[in-house]
Amino acid sequence: MKIWIVKTPVEGANKGVAMIQQTLKDRHEQAVFGLATGGTPQTLYRLLSASQLDFSRCIAINLDEYVGLDQENPQSYAYYMNRYLFSKKPFQQTFIPNGMNRNATVETQRYDQILDRYPIDLQILGLGQNGHIGFNEPGTPFESTTHEVQLTESTIAANARFFAQSTDVPRSAYSMGIKSIMAAKQIVIMAYGKAKAAAVKKLVLGPVTTAVPASILQQHSNVTLIVDEAAADQIKKGKVEN
Ligand code: F6R
Repeated sequence: MKIWIVKTPVEGANKGVAMIQQTLKDRHEQAVFGLATGGTPQTLYRLLSASQLDFSRCIAINLDEYVGLDQENPQSYAYYMNRYLFSKKPFQQTFIPNGMNRNATVETQRYDQILDRYPIDLQILGLGQNGHIGFNEPGTPFESTTHEVQLTESTIAANARFFAQSTDVPRSAYSMGIKSIMAAKQIVIMAYGKAKAAAVKKLVLGPVTTAVPASILQQHSNVTLIVDEAAADQIKKGKVEN
């Protein structure tokens, strides 16, 4: 795993832009990008939106969506992606799980077929405070493909900042599985701020365990972790405290 400790999230986002640019070049402008939502990639999307990069022949596949929110709902991830990126940088095609499809079997199979059809060249990830990636909460099997997830109280509390009140946060989501994330050819995971420091330590130094979904990234051959000083605090000290 390559680790870049940056001074600010803007510096981290600029590194992300450079990696995306390289992927576009390598793939002759026809890349497949796996994308995340949440607070972490917002600066990256702002910089991409302002850039000259051309995604018009690229595919975007998002990690996850809340069950029960439609794309017109400002809290849905579909709305987020349109707002922060797709309205400014058109892609040839974009995919996100359909939170309004209450038939989880049909929806998750549909999404897995999309992932089979378009292997991801570069996957962008954020990191949950509990070590989740996508919405793969602690305990999710490493072999998981797209599935419906019951969100943990920790994730609901962390995401409540985007909603009027925590009771408005949906209790479940559709998420790409850990196996699908690991199938990406290259992964960039970003984490900023001291609230992520413990999860970063387990991701980098901890045992590979389903209790910390992100720890599986230690076994991927092409992962770059971008962290600021605060998020890197506990890896710089070296030792894992359990
Ligand atoms: C979002 C996602 C989540 C977030 C994670 C960190 O699509 O898959 O795993 O990346 O919860 O969220 P933020 O960036 O808001 O701290």
